[in-house]
Amino acid sequence: DTGDVSLNGFDHYMLKEIYEQPESIRNAMRGRLDDQDATAVFGGLNLTPQQLRSVERIVLTGCGTSWHSALVGEYLIEELARIPVSVEYASELRYRNPPMENNTLVFGITQSGETADTLAALRETKRKGHRTLAICNVVASSIAQAADGGVYLHAGPEIGVASTKAYTSQCCVLAMLALYFGRTRHMSYEGGKRLIEELRRLPAAVQQALTTDEQVRDVAKKYCNATNFLYLGRQYNFPTALEGALKLKEISYIHAEGYPAAEMKHGPIALVDKDTPSLFIVPRGTTHDKVMANMEEVKARGGPIIAVASHDDPHIEAIADDVIRVPSVQEFLQPIVTVVPLQLLSYHIALLRGCDVDKPRNLAKSVTVE
Ligand code: AGP
Repeated sequence: DTGDVSLNGFDHYMLKEIYEQPESIRNAMRGRLDDQDATAVFGGLNLTPQQLRSVERIVLTGCGTSWHSALVGEYLIEELARIPVSVEYASELRYRNPPMENNTLVFGITQSGETADTLAALRETKRKGHRTLAICNVVASSIAQAADGGVYLHAGPEIGVASTKAYTSQCCVLAMLALYFGRTRHMSYEGGKRLIEELRRLPAAVQQALTTDEQVRDVAKKYCNATNFLYLGRQYNFPTALEGALKLKEISYIHAEGYPAAEMKHGPIALVDKDTPSLFIVPRGTTHDKVMANMEEVKARGGPIIAVASHDDPHIEAIADDVIRVPSVQEFLQPIVTVVPLQLLSYHIALLRGCDVDKPRNLAKSVTVE
C-alpha cells in the first residue's frame, strides 16, 4: 500500500527514499541535540535520572535491517557510554530466555512497528519486569504502543520493501542515545560537543555520498551477472557488510554473504574466484590497514574487488578494481555514510536484472506473522 505517497519524479520508491536520507537524518536529529549541556534530549524515553544512572545493560533487538542497526548501536553505545550491550534477533530472544541484570533496558528497533517477532520479544521482556522502549518509524504502531516509551525516527513513510532511510535514521538515533547515555557517565562536556558537531555534519556527508550514483551504476553494469557476492567490512563497518549483502539478496536475488573482513580466511575465502566479486568497506580508521591486507588476500586469489573508501585514500586503486569514494566522518559514524553506495548498488543491479525493486518476490514490507 503506497497510500498517497508520491514518487516525486523518481522511478521507484526505493530510489526516492535513498535520496531522502540527508533530510530524514536531519529530521531524526531535529530538536534532539542540546548544545548547552552537550547532550541529546528525548521527549519519550520516560526515564527518571535515577533509572538512567542505574542502567546496567542495554539489549537491542529487531529483525533484518533493524537488527543490523542494532549491531551499529552496540559499537556506538559500548564505545561512547561504556554500558554493556547485547544484540538479539527478536525471533530468538523471545524463546532464548537469557538471564538479564535487573536494570536492563530493552530497545525494540523497528521501522514498521508491526513486526510480530519484535513485538513478542518486547512483550516477553516486559513481562519479566524490564523496561521496554521502541525505536520506531511508524507513529502509534503496535510496538510503539506496547513499549514503555521510545524514540520516533521521523523518517516519513518508507514504501520500498528494502529498508534504506529507516536504517540510517535508526543508526543516527542510536548515536544520539549513545551521546545521551554517555553524558550521564564518562563522556566529558567537550566530548559531547565534538560528537554533536560530528552528528551535524552527517546530512551533508550523506548528500555527498549520493553523488556516487552514476559511478555506482557503472559498477553495477560490470557485475550484474554475478551469481555470488561477498561483502566484507570490519569493526564499525561489519554491520554495513551485512546490510549491503541483505540489500543485494532482497531485491536482485543474487546470493551475497556479509562477513567481518578478517573472518574471511576462516572459510568464505574458498568462494573467491574470478566470477565472485568482493565488496570491501574500507574507510580510513583503526582497521583500515588490516582490511587492506584482507583485500590483498582476495586479489592474490584472482577475485574482483570493489572498494568503498575514503575520499582521500591514495592507496586503494593499487588493489581494488573499482573504487567508490565517500566523505570521511568520525569513524564510528562512518556506517551511516558507507551504506549509501551499497543501497545504490543493489538498486542498480536489481534494475539491470529486470527485478521489481519496490516489491521483491516473497517479501512483505512488514512481517506480522511469526
Ligand atoms: C529490510 O530491507 C527488510 N525488508 C527486512 O529485513 C526488515 O528490516 C525487517 O523485516 C524488520 O522490519 P521492521 O524494521 O519494520 O521491524
